[in-house]
Amino acid sequence: MADARELLDAGERLGPEELRALQLERLRASLRHAYEQVPFYRESFDKAGIRPKDCRSLEDLARFPFTTKADLRENYPFGMFAVPRERIRRLHASSGTTGRPTVVGYTENDLSMWADMVARSIRAAGGRPGDVVHVAYGYGLFTGGLGAHYGAERLGCTVVPASGGMTARQVQLIQDLEPAVIMVTPSYMLTLLDEFERQGVDPRTTSLRVGIFGAEPWTEQMRREIEERFAIDAVDIYGLSEVVGPGVAQECVETKDGLTVWEDHFYPEVIDPLTGEVLPEGERGELVFTSLTKEAMPIIRYRTRDLTRLLPGTARVFRRMEKISGRSDDLVILRGVNLFPTQIEEIVLRTPGVAPHFQLRLTRTGRMDSLTVRAEARPGATPEVREAAARSIVTAVKNGIGVSVDVEIVEPESLERSVGKIRRIVDLRPRDTGQG
Ligand code: DLL
Repeated sequence: MADARELLDAGERLGPEELRALQLERLRASLRHAYEQVPFYRESFDKAGIRPKDCRSLEDLARFPFTTKADLRENYPFGMFAVPRERIRRLHASSGTTGRPTVVGYTENDLSMWADMVARSIRAAGGRPGDVVHVAYGYGLFTGGLGAHYGAERLGCTVVPASGGMTARQVQLIQDLEPAVIMVTPSYMLTLLDEFERQGVDPRTTSLRVGIFGAEPWTEQMRREIEERFAIDAVDIYGLSEVVGPGVAQECVETKDGLTVWEDHFYPEVIDPLTGEVLPEGERGELVFTSLTKEAMPIIRYRTRDLTRLLPGTARVFRRMEKISGRSDDLVILRGVNLFPTQIEEIVLRTPGVAPHFQLRLTRTGRMDSLTVRAEARPGATPEVREAAARSIVTAVKNGIGVSVDVEIVEPESLERSVGKIRRIVDLRPRDTGQG
């Protein structure tokens, strides 16, 4: 890309030294802001015997205490806010699968920074001003829809705020409004794929050029499947509401080698989830974020529970993170063996005769946990092909992950389809003794 550098914004053009200096300056200000304005941070820093002024280098951040989801819940709804309520322009909330949801707030400057980061993300994905962007992330309290929306507008695109659901109409809109870019969860993209086929429209013939997929883990195999079936570039976008929403990190289309972390605004660390030690670049662990510029809700060393590793920058000066392999919450420990749904996804998607739809069922008989992989047959797959597929998945899981599972190849279109974030694990074990 000869002209790529001209397209970059000021933050992306920083040199490595300038970047570190800016990060340190912003980090110190953010720690001060949190300490001075949020009683929770004042208490937790005091308890750890550390003050914002003790942060003299980026490495000093490791001396500050972590913030967890439980801390946000305990301070529900407004306890983590660092500005007077009148300065809050918007609230979002993450769904509380267990207990209270967590609420996040944004000042006008926060919303603007967020839009800038999503605009930067769409551009890194290959979107350009003037492109039509179809947003099929859910609109509402979830940050996906509105986050994508304002970012696309900021870049100078035309937004189609489709939101999730009404799948037949989405396909119609894509044909009629000719978007170049689609922003949607990868699982809902597969639901759209089914619908294209149902309507007899070849998904490779649409105007779509780029898909920006996130909000849930997905694999290289899934990238290949989507790229091939739609004839588009498929790139990964990451974010979480506690930090801002989508646009914390984005994969650059020219390299497709993991996600560039927009670390002039969101400072990443990877820690050992058991000891809390910061791990060196390249080692896998739990991702932790500190916001560098947020006003309404500065967040210091937030434990995301997402597992990945940091890597040096390639397409940008910023570091990258590898695709998320899973959340510690989604870890299944099956008879002592650790397993993530993404590992099963890799196997299912490379198995002939099987569609990219699967579900993991956990059951227990006596004290014995079992996992059944339910995967859909591709339309037209013969009984012989299905049997071979089941055997091949059993063997691949046994050899690759080291545990025995059952496999059921179910009828095409029999598994529930996603309209947003997909739930891969169905845990049917008795509640009191089940893990997690
Ligand atoms: O999912 C924000 C978002 C919307 C990101 C649209 C990308 C696109 P939450 O609902 O707060 O926010 O959920 C955040 O989703 O901690 C990860 O576990 C997971 N997640 C988000 N993006 C990715 C991704 C939005 N690209 C949680 N790969 C995070 C894997 C992801 N997991």
